Amino acid sequence: MKATWILPDGQQITAEVPEGQSLMQAAVAHNVPLVLGECGGNLSCATCHVVVPPDWIDRVGPPNDFEEPMLDVTEAERQPASRLSCQIRMTAALDGIVLIVPQP
Ligand code: FES
Repeated sequence: MKATWILPDGQQITAEVPEGQSLMQAAVAHNVPLVLGECGGNLSCATCHVVVPPDWIDRVGPPNDFEEPMLDVTEAERQPASRLSCQIRMTAALDGIVLIVPQP
């Protein structure tokens, strides 16, 4: 399964992501800039912030209750389709997903 990150400068990084891996872990493993995952996925850093494009948001779904307050402390300003990528796990339905990395 694949995921693509679009960086603030327009550069794209596409990587193989195994099923079940979080998209934060995948970004860190592939050195995607600005997706740091400092807390290791424990919902305490918000450095895994991404924005989900409109054509993917239905499949990704809304933030969970624990993620919601952390989205208000992201470095880049929160957008309606902001998510913390440590809370999104790769599934067959998300194969080919595109994530926008916001400018801090
Ligand atoms: Fe820290 Fe997602 S990795 S909140």
